[in-house]
Amino acid sequence: MPEASATAGTHAPPRVDDRIVLRPWRAADLDDLVAHADDARVSRGVSDRFPFPYTRADGEAFLAGRVVDMSVPVFAIEIDGRAAGGIGVRPFAGERRVGAEFGYWLGQRYWGQGLMTRVVAVFAPWAMDALALERLQATVLDFNVGSARVLEKNGFTEEGVHRRALRKRGQLHDLRMFARLREPDHGCVP
Ligand SMILES: CC(C)(COP(=O)(O)OP(=O)(O)OC[C@H]1O[C@@H](n2cnc3c(N)ncnc32)[C@H](O)[C@@H]1OP(=O)(O)O)[C@@H](O)C(=O)NCCC(=O)NCCS
Repeated sequence: MPEASATAGTHAPPRVDDRIVLRPWRAADLDDLVAHADDARVSRGVSDRFPFPYTRADGEAFLAGRVVDMSVPVFAIEIDGRAAGGIGVRPFAGERRVGAEFGYWLGQRYWGQGLMTRVVAVFAPWAMDALALERLQATVLDFNVGSARVLEKNGFTEEGVHRRALRKRGQLHDLRMFARLREPDHGCVP
């Protein structure tokens, strides 16, 4: 098991507020997962590991741990008792294990209510503490204004743009790189 996940395993997932809980995914989430994930507007902002259409077989593969490594923190975002989205962090390896990348999504019916801003406000400091991270980063597709705002409102700084970094649905896109550092900023030895 990677060192980082062993550390995270000692930390319970954080509660966001009275409506929103982060918790491990369960096999019983399949119906809710597919209902929210099978949405072109959700999948266009995230990795191709999150396909469209999103079938029950895709959901089963994810919940069985065949799509992402579930030994690191990968949580369902439960809203009012039902899984309605996901958030997860992937620690880097070797000399880069001071850092990690995270990603998130929410079912479309919950967009625009400030919910992901609240989730990231709790999850980012929790993940940095649980995994002893100096750096937490997220990459955002050029058109994804909402995701960029979620990060900016949570103390992430835009560091630059990876130009023409990927092709999604036949279109080339830039990727915006955002990161938040552990405070205080110790700087780096040149
Ligand atoms: C991106 C996403 C997570 C945002 O979640 P959300 O709960 O709707 O975001 P919030 O309601 O907390 O909004 C945060 C800010 O973004 C703004 N925003 C949200 N969606 C927006 C959009 N489509 N266009 C412009 N601004 C938007 C909000 O107005 C708010 O800013 P403000 O407080 O300055 O007004 C959600 O749209 C989603 O799941 N998208 C699909 C998956 C995805 O793209 N994930 C991110 C991958 S990097």
